[in-house]
Amino acid sequence: MTSRTALIAGNWKMYKTGDDAVETARRLLDLVKDVRDRDIMIAPPFTALSQVSQIVNGTPVGLGAQNLYWEKEGAFTGEISPEMLTAAGCQYVIIGHSERRQFFGETDETVNQKIRAANANSLIPVFCIGESEQERDSNLTFSVLDKQVQSGLQGFASGDLERLVIAYEPVWAIGTGKTATSSQAQEVHSFLRSLVEKLFGEILAQSIRILYGGSVKPNNIVELMGMPDIDGALVGGASLDAETFSKIVCY
Ligand code: 13P
Repeated sequence: MTSRTALIAGNWKMYKTGDDAVETARRLLDLVKDVRDRDIMIAPPFTALSQVSQIVNGTPVGLGAQNLYWEKEGAFTGEISPEMLTAAGCQYVIIGHSERRQFFGETDETVNQKIRAANANSLIPVFCIGESEQERDSNLTFSVLDKQVQSGLQGFASGDLERLVIAYEPVWAIGTGKTATSSQAQEVHSFLRSLVEKLFGEILAQSIRILYGGSVKPNNIVELMGMPDIDGALVGGASLDAETFSKIVCY
């Protein structure tokens, strides 16, 4: 058995205005306020962070952002710095989500810089990786993930990664209703843990949390969490409704 604390995280993507976000956060908090044995995080859009922070600050629900830029400040129109996120009350930041890689030109190199910036500002990076359907069909899953991990974490020492969370999100399972089976997910998570061991040693490999993401719902969370190397979930669509997300949190 492992001593890793489960993390159930909700990525709200580009949904909810400030008022909607506050309402959802309030309802969620009411439903999960007594949960103590696992970590919970929600990542509203930037525009709602400060408002939601006032609701969840000091509660079991942590706050995350969905992206950052690595500079402290400057002429970078449209970007948000790590300092701005911590000032808004964030403890976590999602980095390298496949939607950002696919639509906004994120690369393994920018992901690496963002993880570095998160670390330097005491934000917990939730580092996303995952293969496309075509890559899986071509038997490239493990080589794609190997490259994403090696490049994303290049230049780090194990001591830099103690708080890092990895989120394995197969692109073909995101928003499609096609969840990876628990054994498909476990196979990848076990591969990832071995890769972390090879690169950074056994202590980090045993302590690092590896989340699964992609069509996680109340009806599949129990089976996924029953797998030895699945330490939590990064939930998209099913995190937008407080009742539904609380069922996943309280699996
Ligand atoms: P869905 O849960 O909607 O498939 O989204 C997963 C995801 O991308 C979380 O980051």
